[in-house]
Amino acid sequence: MSGAIGIDLGSQNCVIGVVRLGGIDVLTNDLSNRATPSVVGFTPRQRFIGEAGYSKLSTNFRNTVLFPTRFLGLKSNSQYIEEEQKWITHGLNTESSEIKHQVWYGGEEHLFSTEQVVAMLLKHLEDIVSDTNKTKVTDCVISVPSYFNEVERVSLLNAVSISGIPCVKIMNEGTAVALSYGLFRNNTFNEIPRVVVFADMGHSKFAVTIAQFVKDKLEILAHWTDRNLGGRDFDWVLMKHFAAQFQKKHGIDLLKNQRARTKLAVAIEKVRKTLTVNSDSHLSVEYISEDYDLNGVITRDEFESLTENLLDRIERNCKIALQKSGVQSVHSVEILGGASRMPIVQKIYAKAFQLEQVNKTLNPEEAISRGCAVQAAMLSPLYKVKDFSIKDMVYYPLKFCYTPKDMDMDIDVPTEVLFDEKNIFPVTKIINTTKSGPFRIKVFNEICSLCTSFIVDCPEEPNEYKIKVHIKMDKNGVLSLEKAERIERAEVEEEKASMDIDKPAEAEKPQAEVKVEDENLTEEDKKKAEEDKKKAEEDKKKPEEEKKKAKPKIKKTPLKCISDIRGLDEKAMKTCIDLERKFTDKDRLAKATLEKKNELESFIYDSRANINGILNEYTTKDHASKILNDFQNTENWLYDDGSDTVKEEYEKRLKFLRDDMNPIKTRYTFYSEIPGVIAYLEEAIKYSHDMFAVVDEKYSHIAATERQGFVNKALENQEVLNQVKASLAKLQKYQDSGINSGDLTKRAQQLREQVNQIMNKPKPTPPKVEEKAEGEKTETEKNKDEPKGETKPEEKKQAEDEKEDKSEQPMDTDS
Ligand SMILES: Nc1ncnc2c1ncn2[C@@H]1O[C@H](COP(=O)(O)OP(=O)(O)O)[C@@H](O)[C@H]1O
Ligand SMILES: [Mg+2]
Repeated sequence: MSGAIGIDLGSQNCVIGVVRLGGIDVLTNDLSNRATPSVVGFTPRQRFIGEAGYSKLSTNFRNTVLFPTRFLGLKSNSQYIEEEQKWITHGLNTESSEIKHQVWYGGEEHLFSTEQVVAMLLKHLEDIVSDTNKTKVTDCVISVPSYFNEVERVSLLNAVSISGIPCVKIMNEGTAVALSYGLFRNNTFNEIPRVVVFADMGHSKFAVTIAQFVKDKLEILAHWTDRNLGGRDFDWVLMKHFAAQFQKKHGIDLLKNQRARTKLAVAIEKVRKTLTVNSDSHLSVEYISEDYDLNGVITRDEFESLTENLLDRIERNCKIALQKSGVQSVHSVEILGGASRMPIVQKIYAKAFQLEQVNKTLNPEEAISRGCAVQAAMLSPLYKVKDFSIKDMVYYPLKFCYTPKDMDMDIDVPTEVLFDEKNIFPVTKIINTTKSGPFRIKVFNEICSLCTSFIVDCPEEPNEYKIKVHIKMDKNGVLSLEKAERIERAEVEEEKASMDIDKPAEAEKPQAEVKVEDENLTEEDKKKAEEDKKKAEEDKKKPEEEKKKAKPKIKKTPLKCISDIRGLDEKAMKTCIDLERKFTDKDRLAKATLEKKNELESFIYDSRANINGILNEYTTKDHASKILNDFQNTENWLYDDGSDTVKEEYEKRLKFLRDDMNPIKTRYTFYSEIPGVIAYLEEAIKYSHDMFAVVDEKYSHIAATERQGFVNKALENQEVLNQVKASLAKLQKYQDSGINSGDLTKRAQQLREQVNQIMNKPKPTPPKVEEKAEGEKTETEKNKDEPKGETKPEEKKQAEDEKEDKSEQPMDTDS
């Protein structure tokens, strides 16, 4: 099966939605769970990703990367690193500007980039689809938090390229949910806009999306996110609370010891989840530190008062989102994200949006993946999805500055606005400038860190000339340089120069209806656009000839441009892809090796039970004890040198033991089957004799000589059977018989076939009675006419013989 999928690439969990006939399904992973932990673990032999990685966390925490997606796009000097370091258990190398994840894997230290680790996770998710669910991924849409800026999006796209997953789009989480909500409720929408809030609190962040629905249309009014406000922040408050109690009692700071802290975090999350349904919850962790246990209890009221600050932040963020959306009131609030399950959080949502209560019509953990799957289906040629227009936006202001091509100043001050804080996308922005000689456009994000730069290679001339540069923000929210042109007055008659306003990106038109709003333009742009609009209207009114004359003659010459390589260059990308393949092969081999080891273990376990039980009489005492001894030795080896060795070694030992066991199993099979085989051949022999003797009109055409053929065969088989029985009588079950039971079965089958072939021979059709000429009579008629007299003695005898023949012997058809 092949299909389009949607991936909710969460910080703690990933969920995969798949497009099926008539709807979206959520896939289960190798442990039959619908959510897969965002965890990548490394061991000396292989990687353990998802469930397997999480299950090894307590013993392998130093080599387990938790929350890899939180590092996408972050540089070593990022202000967010400190917060993330609170939650990870592996080493982070921040020596260079690029963050590296430091782990031991395959017997050596590795420094993996975030893109590599996220690629491993993505590949694992694809494997869940292909291996566990037997579906080939054709098109995939991956969610990103809507706060993801340009650099973070490029970082994810790099991870996608390394993983090789066929991603057709990355999509804002809130928009994905709104799409899923809207598409399946489209019948309930009309021309009156319905404004719905999607409040998503996951493990690490809180995001609010406010969307407006009318029939067949969805428009995002606001995305608002607090990057560090999620379930884990509530956990942190509880961790500090219980760690303080522990320190008071035992003088040990649990938060300073990584092992204890990891155990504490896992236990606290359970406590918090319990508080969602119970009014109090107990904490109990054995041997958390230095043989001490950690025990405690907390009520829901205590929890809510301890986390008051966080709760206030939720309310504040909801209010900001509402204000950004520009609406006064909303139709409903849908809860999303696991942490939105907390009752107090739902209360705050309702309060902030002035509603009685929140709505729970969507599955909080699955709605994002479903929305992404819907979008994947819309973009895939394999499906036909109802038209539903989406108008999305991103929130990251981008500024730029010009620098000479070869001057790479460390500090550049972006002075010009490329995109404002709030952008409807996809969209193309046109920059007008006058230059002479090659120059560079450097684009910076909101924290003044460089996103990308483009070199426009324009020829050096004594005077500067006019240039237009088209910069596109694509469906993924990522920048690219579409083209740059030199604009000159020329003799050629041309279309009027395009206005200096943003225009929808052509390629994206079918995908989302994009119309650039005024707020995207600078004041100057707005004025100019207004003037151009007026002029265009006036132009329209002019007669055709006059219009032609009025058109300025413009010549556009394309200029050579070079765009920055985003993230990894071609060579680095190839290295990462090759490495990922190598690691995947290594994991597969490790999996196959483990399977072989398990096969060897279970072979020993099962065979030992059989030797002592069901197979016991089929082997000699000496052989049995030799085999049991071999089992013991192999078992000892498995716990010792063989606990971790190569696949071939397990195969070799398994073959050795199997070869020794096989004759015993063969004897068991033979002696169990042989009575049935003998009976089968006996039946066939009896059947031949019966058919030889049968007297029936339907067999009257089969001659005795023919029947004799199979009777002879039956007698020959009887002879063989007698010899078999005689041999068997002399044999013990631990001895090989030398009898081929398959041969006996074949004899029985062949005999039956021979009998049936002869006995089923069709009867010849009786000769047709000729049409008689007038006066002609048949023999019988003649006889009838003849006077009845005494039969002569010889004739009588012959007649009696014939009669006897007819009744007891099959008639020869030739006579
Ligand atoms: N019943 C519950 N009560 C409280 N919190 C919950 C509950 N179920 C899940 N969570 C929390 O939800 C968060 C995970 O939500 P999810 O949306 O999967 O996160 P992410 O998108 O960041 O991966 C975790 O903090 C988890 O503890
Ligand atoms: Mg989530």
